[in-house]
Amino acid sequence: MQIVIQPDAQAVARYGAAAIIRQIRQHPASVLGLATGATPILLYQQLITAYQHGEVSFQAVKTFNLDEYIGLAATHPQSYRYFMQHHLFNHIDIQPENTAVPEGDAADPLLACEQYEQKIMAAGGIDLQLLGIGRNGHIGFNEPSSGLRSRTRVKTLTQQTIADNARFFAPGEYQPHLSITMGIGTILDARKVLLLATGKAKAKVVKAMIEGPLSASCPASALQLHQQATVVLDEEAASDL
Ligand code: GLP
Repeated sequence: MQIVIQPDAQAVARYGAAAIIRQIRQHPASVLGLATGATPILLYQQLITAYQHGEVSFQAVKTFNLDEYIGLAATHPQSYRYFMQHHLFNHIDIQPENTAVPEGDAADPLLACEQYEQKIMAAGGIDLQLLGIGRNGHIGFNEPSSGLRSRTRVKTLTQQTIADNARFFAPGEYQPHLSITMGIGTILDARKVLLLATGKAKAKVVKAMIEGPLSASCPASALQLHQQATVVLDEEAASDL
C-alpha cells in the first residue's frame, strides 16, 4: 500500500483527480470503478473542471459503480445512480451507455449481481477503482465479516452504516437496509486501487485498514493484499497512524 498524506480534503481531491486524469490520458478507453459518499464529491468537481478546460475527455471511458441501494429506482434522489448523474455524468462527455451502476430496482437482484460481474469482465476488468471507506471499514457496501474473495452480491447494511447514511435522507423518508455491492474479490481484481479518506471521523478506521491485521472485521484491510493500492489521506484522517 502506498500512503499519501495531503494537508486537506481539497488537496486529497486534487491528488486523486490527477491520478484519474493521468490514467485516462494514457489509456483513453480506461475502465474506471467509481464510488459514492461525500468523500469523492470534491474529486468529481475537479474532473468536471478538467473536462471543461479541455484537459481530459471521457468519450471512450467506461465506468462501473461499486454499489446501489436495493429498492431505489435510478430516478430516486437518494439512489447512487442519481448521485452519479448529478455529481459527475451530467457534466462530462461520457457516453450514457458506458456508465454502469448496479440496478437497485432489478426484478431479480441475484441475477442482476451475476450480470454485473459479467459486464465488468466483458469490459476487460477495471483499470482503476476509486474507493471511500465507511467508519466500520466497509468498502462499497462490504460490511464487516464480508468474505475477502466475495463477488457482486446482495448485502444487508449494518445499523452503523444505516445511521451514518441517514444524513442523506429526509426525516421519515424510507431508507433501504439492503444493497447490491461489488465484492471484495471484485475490488481486488482492479488493476489499480485509489482509496480516499478525509476528516477526523475516519482516523481510527484508517489506522485499522493500514496497520491492523488483515481481517474480514475491517474489509478495507483486504487492500493490504493489493499490489497497486494507493491510500490518499488528509492530515486528520492520518492522525492516528
Ligand atoms: C457509503 C458507500 C461507500 C462509501 C461510504 C463512506 O456507505 N457505500 O462506498 O465509501 O459510504 O462515505 P463518506 O465518503 O460519505 O464517508
